Amino acid sequence: MTKFLLVTDLDNTLIGNDTALQNLNRQLSQHRQNHNTLLAYSTGRSLTRYRELQTQKGLLEPDALIVSVGTEIYIDDKNTPDSEWTGRLQSNWDRSQVLKAAQVAGLSLQPDSEQGPFKVSFSATDDGAAIAIPKIEAALQAQELDAKIIYSAGQYLDILPQRGDKGEAMQFLRHRWQISAFRTVVCGDSGNDISLFQTGAERGIIVGNAQPELLQWHEQKPVKHHYLAQEHCAAGILEGLHHFRFLP
Ligand code: GLC
Ligand code: MG
Repeated sequence: MTKFLLVTDLDNTLIGNDTALQNLNRQLSQHRQNHNTLLAYSTGRSLTRYRELQTQKGLLEPDALIVSVGTEIYIDDKNTPDSEWTGRLQSNWDRSQVLKAAQVAGLSLQPDSEQGPFKVSFSATDDGAAIAIPKIEAALQAQELDAKIIYSAGQYLDILPQRGDKGEAMQFLRHRWQISAFRTVVCGDSGNDISLFQTGAERGIIVGNAQPELLQWHEQKPVKHHYLAQEHCAAGILEGLHHFRFLP
């Protein structure tokens, strides 16, 4: 057994089965102690809503925290986002222009707490999103705004800078810590996790309760280094970690 980097989504991936979470936490803590294994959370939540969950669920303190769908990374300083990462997202991003362009679709905005300097978030049903996405794309394009749209779990529509997703943020950490893709494992359940699986040769665990958009993506692009677990949430992560032999 040697060191690895675990990058996991929270809602409906790490969180959702308290008994399995406790079991996984126990095994991870041991591995971190013995092998310096690294843990990073990667969530769509804002920092504030992450902290609520951390208290509520007694989550392990991670080595790094990716919030707001990859648009903020906290490493050593728990209160200030990593400035190198922020600097990269700043180029070519004008939030107020993106917001204005996106409003053509008439979707309702999520609460202020879930808006971020590099994240514009709406609520949308599947049908609503199917109509809205082409409209927003056209508006962004017409104004030459370099942004991307991510739809998740039949209800969330995020617009982010081109480089600001969970996958790019994970790569940034991997390079910062010099961990190879083969010793990195990413876990997720929904649309905003697809970028984690898309970027390279990292090992991937799709939990058994994954949303249709991620399952569909996986069906279209099946590869040996992505594992679709039977089990749900943390139990699915454990199943995958055994499959890839990261845990005994
Ligand atoms: C989380 C965030 C929300 C975002 C969603 C999908 O629920 O709170 O703002 O839209 O993840 O990324
Ligand atoms: Mg999730």
